[in-house]
Amino acid sequence: MKYLFTAKGRHGIHSPFVYAFVTNCIPTKIEKKFLIARKKLFKNLKNNNTTLEINDFGSGSKKLGNKRSISSIFSTSSSKGKFSLLLYRIAHYYKPKNTLEFGTSLGVGSIHLCKGNEQGIVTTVEACENTQFYAKKNLKKMEINNVKSILSTFEDFIETYKGEKFDIVFIDGHHNGIALLHYLEKLKPITHNDTLIILDDIRWSKSMLESWKTIINDPFYHVSIDLFRMGIITPRSQQIKEHFIIRF
Ligand SMILES: C[S@@+](CC[C@H](N)C(=O)[O-])C[C@H]1O[C@@H](n2cnc3c(N)ncnc32)[C@H](O)[C@@H]1O
Repeated sequence: MKYLFTAKGRHGIHSPFVYAFVTNCIPTKIEKKFLIARKKLFKNLKNNNTTLEINDFGSGSKKLGNKRSISSIFSTSSSKGKFSLLLYRIAHYYKPKNTLEFGTSLGVGSIHLCKGNEQGIVTTVEACENTQFYAKKNLKKMEINNVKSILSTFEDFIETYKGEKFDIVFIDGHHNGIALLHYLEKLKPITHNDTLIILDDIRWSKSMLESWKTIINDPFYHVSIDLFRMGIITPRSQQIKEHFIIRF
């Protein structure tokens, strides 16, 4: 079953989880102090011509080459607009103890996940050393104290991780459909029945969209939410399987 609805009203939503997501999580108020600091950071990144030598482990833009300015990385790779604010809102509303982000880039997504819930810990994984170095600078500038920045490939991180299970996972790197399905499978032992998995760029390529279709038909995930750019999935075996399409 598919439902297309906005955050303004209830239109036949069966899942209390999704109803709460639409009516409580999406409208979460964002702290003004954070919005001011975020605006300043975005302005700085947008106008920053410092060049970084990039080691691209994912499916990043080949035409941008290995040397990229901070401003071009910011414009092509960082979370911005309503989707970055949604990361803050999800962190604020669900108060995850442990969050995992795959793909730190300049640290913009991490900043939203960290600031949305300062009681939780965000582990963010990035394989490019120069990018991670710059992300750490941004995290410091934004006075983030609840982040663990890990220099690793996603694969190696999963293989060696020994800590607590993650409550929220944000997969935002290596946008290849086959790789995505592989990571989801590998993440199963370090996530739980209520883990929210946020997938970025589900329509970035044909293979990403194909995999998104596979994921929403997978009986393992009882809730899937299509937000057009992002997709959210969670096992939630306690409820009937439902798929939602939400424009917000
Ligand atoms: C789209 S950017 C992440 C944006 C960031 N999450 C945000 O919200 O601003 C993707 C990042 O993932 C990193 N990456 C891609 N594939 C990777 C892999 N297999 N292992 C580790 N890092 C990877 C890239 O180097 C790049 O910096």
